Amino acid sequence: MLDVAWWRRGVVYQIYPRSFQDSDGDGIGDLEGVRRRLDHLVALGVDAVWLSPIFPSPMADFGYDVADYCGVDAIFGSIDDFDRLLDDAHGRGLKVILDFVPNHSSEAHPWFVESRRDRSDPRRDWYIWRDAAPGGGPPNNWISNFGGPAWTFDETTGQYYLHSFLREQPDLNWRNPELRAAMADVLRFWLDRGVDGFRIDVLWLLIKDEELRDNPENPDYAQGDPDIGRLLQTYSSDREEVFDVIRELRATVDDYDDRVLIGEIYLPVDRLVAYYGPDLSGVHLPFNFQLIFADWHARAIERRIAEYEAALPPGGWPNWVLGNHDQKRVATRLGGPQARVAAMLLLTLRGTPTLYYGDEIGLADVPVPHDLAQDPWEKNEPGHGRDPARTPMPWDATTNGGFTAGAPWLPMNDVGALNVAAAARDPRSILALHRALLALRRGSPALSLGAYEGVKAQGDVLAYRRRHGEEELLVALNLGDEGAELALPIAATALLSTHMDREGAEQPGVLKLRPNEGVVLRL
Ligand code: NOJ
Ligand code: MG
Repeated sequence: MLDVAWWRRGVVYQIYPRSFQDSDGDGIGDLEGVRRRLDHLVALGVDAVWLSPIFPSPMADFGYDVADYCGVDAIFGSIDDFDRLLDDAHGRGLKVILDFVPNHSSEAHPWFVESRRDRSDPRRDWYIWRDAAPGGGPPNNWISNFGGPAWTFDETTGQYYLHSFLREQPDLNWRNPELRAAMADVLRFWLDRGVDGFRIDVLWLLIKDEELRDNPENPDYAQGDPDIGRLLQTYSSDREEVFDVIRELRATVDDYDDRVLIGEIYLPVDRLVAYYGPDLSGVHLPFNFQLIFADWHARAIERRIAEYEAALPPGGWPNWVLGNHDQKRVATRLGGPQARVAAMLLLTLRGTPTLYYGDEIGLADVPVPHDLAQDPWEKNEPGHGRDPARTPMPWDATTNGGFTAGAPWLPMNDVGALNVAAAARDPRSILALHRALLALRRGSPALSLGAYEGVKAQGDVLAYRRRHGEEELLVALNLGDEGAELALPIAATALLSTHMDREGAEQPGVLKLRPNEGVVLRL
C-alpha cells in the first residue's frame, strides 16, 4: 500500500507475557509460548506486538521492577528465546515492541544496590536521595501511586529515597547525565538486536520538580479513590524538562530505521499532545486513553474525538487505546454487545489502534478473590487491583484453556464457555468481527490513512466519514440498546456490520441500526 511508516498504518496488539501462553508448565506464560501462538496474531491481522516487560525482575510489580535492562527473566526464557521469537515474528511480518521502564528500576538492580551503599558512591546520584524534612519525616508530601508515602528511609546512609510506585521500585534520577547515557545504551542493546520500538512506561513522570516542592491537595478527591488521588501531581509529573529527555531518547532511536516510540501518558488532551514534542521531536505516539475513560454516550465520544483531532500538532499522528493491563477490560466496562461496537470504533477511527490481548474474543474481567491477589496494588489498596484484567488467555476448551499444563498463576474465565478455538469456529463471534474489521482496515486507505470528518447524528448514534482519494466510507455506531436511524446522503452499501449479517446490502436513504449495532458503509 501507500508508502507510510508501518506504525501509522499498522495495528498494535499488547501481550501481557505472563498470561499469553505457558510452554514449560510453570503456570506462567513465557516467550516460547508467545512464539507458538504467533499464528493467532497473523490470523487476526495485527501488525505489531507490544510485550509488557520481559526483563530480569524480582516481580514485585510483575516486571515493571527491572533488575537488568539488558536481559530476559528466566521465568520468560532466555535471550535466545527472545531472538527466536523476534526472528519468527519478523518472518511473519510482525513488528516487536518492548516495554522500556525508565522511571524506576528494581531495588535489586546493581545500580541501586551501589547507590544505597554509601552517600559518596558514584551511583548515588542515579537515584533521588534526600535528607529528612527539617522537622523529621519524609522530604515532602508526595504519595506513591500504589498508596502510602513516596519516600522510604534507608538506614544505611540515613536518607530517604523516592519511589513513585512500590518501595521496591526506586525512581531513577533523569537529571543525571551518566544515567541518561546508560539508558541510551540500553535502547541500543535492543535496537541492535532488531526490536522495532518501545512503549515507554509512565513517560510523564520521568522528571520531577528540581526543588521537590510539596504537591497541592486535590479538591476533587473522593473517599474511596486511590490514595494517590489526594494530591494533584503538580510537582511530581509533566515537568517541562522532560522534553529534553524525550528528545534524547528519540535521537537515539532515530539512528535506526523505522522504529517507533510510544509513550504511556495519562494526561488531559491539551497536555498529552505536548508529548509529540516541539517540531515532532517527541514520541511518535503518546498513548491516547480517552476511550477508556469516556462516558459511553455518542455525543460525549464525538466531542472527545473532535477535541483530540483539533489538538493534534501538524503532522502528529493520532492513536487510540481501548484497554490495557492496568484498566478494567472493555467487555466489563461496556458489556458484550457494546464491546463489539467499541471494536468497530477503535478499528475505524483515524490513528493507530492498540488492542489488548483477550479483548478480541470478548474476554471480561475475571473476579480474583482478595486472598488470591497477585497485584501489589490490590494488596496495598483492596479494590484497586489489576489482576482481573490480566488473567490467562483461554485458547481452547481443554484443562486451563490450553494455557498451561500446570496451575495458572491467576484464575481463569470459564474456558468451556469462552475460548479462542470456539470463537474461531463461530463466523459471527467477536473474534470473527475483529478479523473482518482488521482485514477491512488493511485493504482500505480511507480507514487506515484517510481523513476523519464527524457526521451529525441524533441520540445514541455516533457517525463519521473516512475518506482517502476516491474512497469514501461512513461509519455509523449505535451506542444504545434501542433501534436508531441515520439519514444517508446517498445510497450506500454495507461493508460490515457488528452483527455480521448485512454485508453487501444496499442501504436506501435511511440507515436503520439495530440495538448495539455498528455498520461500515461505502458511499
Ligand atoms: C505503568 C504500568 O503500565 C503499570 O502496570 C506499572 O505498575 C506502573 N507503570 C509502574 O511501572
Ligand atoms: Mg512458563
